[in-house]
Amino acid sequence: MTIVERKREALYSKLTEGIEFLKDENDTLFKKLRRNKLQILKLLIKIVEEIDPYTKGHSIKVYRYTIRILKRLKLKKKDMITIGKAALLHDIGKIAINKDILNKPGRLTEKEYAAIKAHPRIGAEIAQEVKELKTSCQDILYHHLWYNGRGYPFSKLQCDDIPLGARIIAVADGYDAMTSNRPYRKAFDKEHAIGELKRCSGTQYDPKIVEIFITILKTR
Ligand SMILES: [Fe+2]
Repeated sequence: MTIVERKREALYSKLTEGIEFLKDENDTLFKKLRRNKLQILKLLIKIVEEIDPYTKGHSIKVYRYTIRILKRLKLKKKDMITIGKAALLHDIGKIAINKDILNKPGRLTEKEYAAIKAHPRIGAEIAQEVKELKTSCQDILYHHLWYNGRGYPFSKLQCDDIPLGARIIAVADGYDAMTSNRPYRKAFDKEHAIGELKRCSGTQYDPKIVEIFITILKTR
């Protein structure tokens, strides 16, 4: 066995232990979350990214894109912190999704897709349990809700009634997903991804945020 394989096996074993621990301690998880707060959430992000290797580094990239958009919008510091936390933790609900479903290379069944669609609600419920994250819940909950009201979870909200943070995270998340390799397709190049953002502007994405983000991408 090579060193890399040994390290990978050791890491996998640690993560398995961590996941088993979280499962065993499910009843007291929320109490632990309150006590250990952000440290536990950082661990959860790591575990999510190990369960779903294609999202490795995704949370931090979405966070960085979000912060760049927020700086352009010149929001109050308090709001920037709230939305920044939501960006970092937007996929935390994937902790509860079956690893095989997250990594399935082929087409998902209706049931599997329904399981994936639960992750914003689960993420919002986790964040709701932590005092410092309560204000980020709505942005986590609606990060897959489309600007025209489609997407998920089902909601009567649409356009600017959708929380601003959720609309920003949706654009940052969409761009990073498009420019990353996925089990079912290769990464798009930057120009192709920008073209997709424009094509989906006004339907999936808030057109104002798309415009700001494209300006940012082109001035890099
Ligand atoms: Fe998500």
